[in-house]
Amino acid sequence: MKNQRWFACLMLFAGASVIAQDAPSIVRNDCARCHGLDGIATKPAMPHLNGQLDSYLLAQMKKMQKGRLPTAVENHVPASLTESELAAIAQYYHAIKVTRPAQETNPDKVAQGEIIFRNRCNDCHGDNGREADKDAPLMAAQNLQHMIHQIDLFVSGKRKFGFLQDDAFKGLSRDELEAVAHFFASQDQIAPAAAAVGGGKKKRR
Ligand code: HEC
Ligand code: HEC
Repeated sequence: MKNQRWFACLMLFAGASVIAQDAPSIVRNDCARCHGLDGIATKPAMPHLNGQLDSYLLAQMKKMQKGRLPTAVENHVPASLTESELAAIAQYYHAIKVTRPAQETNPDKVAQGEIIFRNRCNDCHGDNGREADKDAPLMAAQNLQHMIHQIDLFVSGKRKFGFLQDDAFKGLSRDELEAVAHFFASQDQIAPAAAAVGGGKKKRR
């Protein structure tokens, strides 16, 4: 009975497109304890993976396997996972359209961040972070602390910038960059209008 109710919840929230039974075993046995079975982070300051571009997820997992992406997690993406297993994980999380939890953001920072976003970040993290170009990830409703931590890693040089991303960061203070993170965090993952008419089915790439 308990299981049935859980199943019904998943069906409801995932738009019936992906169910727990479809999760690759590594997701169930490992990744889910932090990233959730539905891609919603289960702990503070961790990234949500639900609905993220599969190409981005795949690229990041491959970098982690090769030690090319700074990570706080030991053996984060085991080297034993093959390319097709990684692709299945990426596809699994990408396909989930659940709603990311609302976060507390600072309204002044959101307003400041929106202006900086329009001038500096919109090219690649378009539609308030709901679109993406030039290999960038979708950012809307991403976890605030995670984004701020990644900004610090970029600025300190520990994480390599994406294509031309360093130009966008140039001359901005940490406070200004943090304000953009507040702006992204304040956004709905799926545009409210799109959600109302078609469940946000618009293709993202
Ligand atoms: C102990 C918690 C934990 C576990 C288990 C874990 N992750 Fe993560 N994951 C994190 C954290 C924290 C980050 C943020 C950056 C970092 O420190 O790695 C992250 C980042 C990522 C990212 C990059 C997301 C982005 O938006 O840039 C991907 C992809 C990812 N993890 C995939 C996986 C996969 C696949 C597994 C299972 C094989 C997994 N993770 C297991 C905690 C975890
Ligand atoms: C020219 C394209 C481009 C622009 C402009 C750009 N970015 Fe990015 N951004 C990227 C790419 C590409 C990545 C992924 C980098 C990688 O592969 O590790 C990224 C990743 C990020 C991440 C990490 C997300 C995560 O989950 O790990 C943050 C945070 C971020 N960008 C913030 C910003 C902010 C703030 C601005 C504006 C000041 C900005 N970006 C402008 C291309 C861009």
